[in-house]
Amino acid sequence: MTEAAHIRCRKLTKSYQKGRVTVTPLEDLDLDVGRGEFLALMGPSGSGKTTLLNLIAGIDQPSGGELHVGGLDLAKLSRGQLTAWRARHCGYIFQLYHLVPILSAFENVELPLLLDRSLSRAQRRERVGAALDLVGLSDRAEHRPAELSGGQEQRVAIARAIVADPGLLVADEPTGDLDREAGDQILELLRELSSRHDKTIVMVTHDSRAAAAADRILHLEKGRLVESGTLESRKGAIRP
Ligand SMILES: Nc1ncnc2c1ncn2[C@@H]1O[C@H](COP(=O)(O)OP(=O)(O)OP(=O)(O)O)[C@@H](O)[C@H]1O
Ligand SMILES: [Mg+2]
Repeated sequence: MTEAAHIRCRKLTKSYQKGRVTVTPLEDLDLDVGRGEFLALMGPSGSGKTTLLNLIAGIDQPSGGELHVGGLDLAKLSRGQLTAWRARHCGYIFQLYHLVPILSAFENVELPLLLDRSLSRAQRRERVGAALDLVGLSDRAEHRPAELSGGQEQRVAIARAIVADPGLLVADEPTGDLDREAGDQILELLRELSSRHDKTIVMVTHDSRAAAAADRILHLEKGRLVESGTLESRKGAIRP
């Protein structure tokens, strides 16, 4: 997998200096994630899951080690380059959706495209329409977040994450605030994005049922990968 890996971490380390205290949420982490693979990351609170997602998404930069995403060494990019890279190549899905309350579903999904000045209004409309269609919410385009269910809000957030057609999606407990049925719809959607649309997905979850929707499950503990429960790679419907 090494050469084709979409994400490649070697001895990846992240430390924060707080006064005299150094906190090291991630230490010497080696990880390969294949293109189109759906990976679930589990682990206790404080084990470094969000820290790892933020590195992979280019929100934070490593303190040491290597981090290549799509063949690019993210540690070598400036802040501005990272922001531009992220807008094009990585979608982020949050537990609490982070939609802008005063904007419609359509306008929320359109937001990332406003960064790309080469797109015309008509091109933006077309892409937003396609993204909302993919998540099954074409008929809710004019609704504001308060007029949507939690599951629908998360689907709008997923449409926003994919509208610029990034190859990589990271999701931090995307089903954490949803009931089982709405959560299952989100997991099914993520599976479809990985299997049919070839998105690489790294999803953090505390729920082993949600993790079972992924191709592979890894466990983090105190900033290190401790064990890997490899499920046979199944590209298809989510399990019962
Ligand atoms: N900006 C920061 N400055 C200092 N320490 C930080 C910072 N961000 C995270 N940490 C520390 O890193 C450790 C890992 O945090 P992280 O948010 O990655 O955990 P997590 O596995 O996502 O936990 P949870 O399941 O509760 O979301 C924690 O001890 C946290 O306090
Ligand atoms: Mg976290």
